[in-house]
Amino acid sequence: MIDLSRYRKDFPILNQTVKGRPLIYLDNAATAQKPLQVIGTVDQYYREYNSNVHRGLHTLSERATRAYEKAREKVARFIHAPRSEEVIFTRNTTESINLVAYTWARKFLKAGDAILLTEMEHHSNLVPWHLLREEKSIELRFIPVTPRGELDLQHLKQLLDGVRLVSVTHMSNVLGTINPVEVITEEAHAAGAKVLIDGAQAVPHMPVNVQDIDCDFYAFSGHKMCGPTGVGVLWARAEILRDMPPFLGGGEMIHEVHLNHSDYADIPNKFEAGTPNIAQAIGLGAAVDYLSRVGMENILQHEQEIGALAIEKLKSIKGLRIFGESEKRGAAISFEIEGVHPHDIATILDEQGIAIRAGHHCAQPLMRKFNVQSTARASFYFYNVPEEIDILVDALKTAKRLFGYVT
Ligand SMILES: Cc1ncc(COP(=O)(O)O)c(C=O)c1O
Repeated sequence: MIDLSRYRKDFPILNQTVKGRPLIYLDNAATAQKPLQVIGTVDQYYREYNSNVHRGLHTLSERATRAYEKAREKVARFIHAPRSEEVIFTRNTTESINLVAYTWARKFLKAGDAILLTEMEHHSNLVPWHLLREEKSIELRFIPVTPRGELDLQHLKQLLDGVRLVSVTHMSNVLGTINPVEVITEEAHAAGAKVLIDGAQAVPHMPVNVQDIDCDFYAFSGHKMCGPTGVGVLWARAEILRDMPPFLGGGEMIHEVHLNHSDYADIPNKFEAGTPNIAQAIGLGAAVDYLSRVGMENILQHEQEIGALAIEKLKSIKGLRIFGESEKRGAAISFEIEGVHPHDIATILDEQGIAIRAGHHCAQPLMRKFNVQSTARASFYFYNVPEEIDILVDALKTAKRLFGYVT
């Protein structure tokens, strides 16, 4: 297995005990930990050049503006965006998807148009479309999920008839499945639909090239990729962004304001009203530098190896069922253990210093599809090591024992 354990020393939070045991952090799909390089960059901004961007004509403001715009360039390069002005800083994936729903979709969709989603979407790629449907009488359709946890693309062509937007997750936060977004995009474009990819679980874990995917919108969150909370990204093609009305109105996003009307600034400023998340965006730039040094190919390889090993070892526990059996998958692993409630699993693991997530993972329709209320989920990142899997498996066996089942 590719050894990336040398990077652990960059994450001070990992070097602590919880309930008297060394912390094992396996909740990376919820949020990732931050390396010293990111913490230091945010700290340096506040210590040395905290200032508003795009406004002041003074030295600190010029330095903050340069760093903020540099972060935009770094993010653009990281996802292979052709132009940095196509990168809009938002708060998170949720806001990026809402931005598309509130601007592009409100302007261009009309009653009777359809949007194609999937049954494995996170609530952040469902609820904005529910809200839109309340206003516009659009139709929502769903690509079904197979029992193996993959998208059933057999009837994609028929599903696409009359569809104006396809919005699909790149990787499922529950099943770990990596979806064939290139294929879906090609079919969608052939049917005349635009494509939005929810990359919240992809950008942190694998190389992403928006030009290769050929999608129209791509959304992701900084905090899941070693960056600060409070910053996310919407990438979209320049010509599409220029055609979209602004999302929020206020300072920074205007060209000229009169008492009764205003003209808007060009992209990206048009979509960044008010004082932006300056420190967070600069911190995200540092996270992108850091991940690039580790190497996204290395991260992908490590997670596929550690994910496969974890699945193999988890399967040795009798009564444990894993949700999602796709061969193309990342290292977010959902499971249940017969007779033990997922919340009890998480609580017992916490007693042993192991952080996992239990719940519906903001994917209630997918839970219903699999006939469960909730699952337990262990999700790995490049700083996790194989020894942590053994401790996890032992702790799960303890959980089973405590609830009366013998391994
Ligand atoms: C697939 C997916 N989409 C969207 C989101 C929402 O991300 P955020 O809460 O950062 O907006 C998540 C978060 O877990 C996710 O896993």
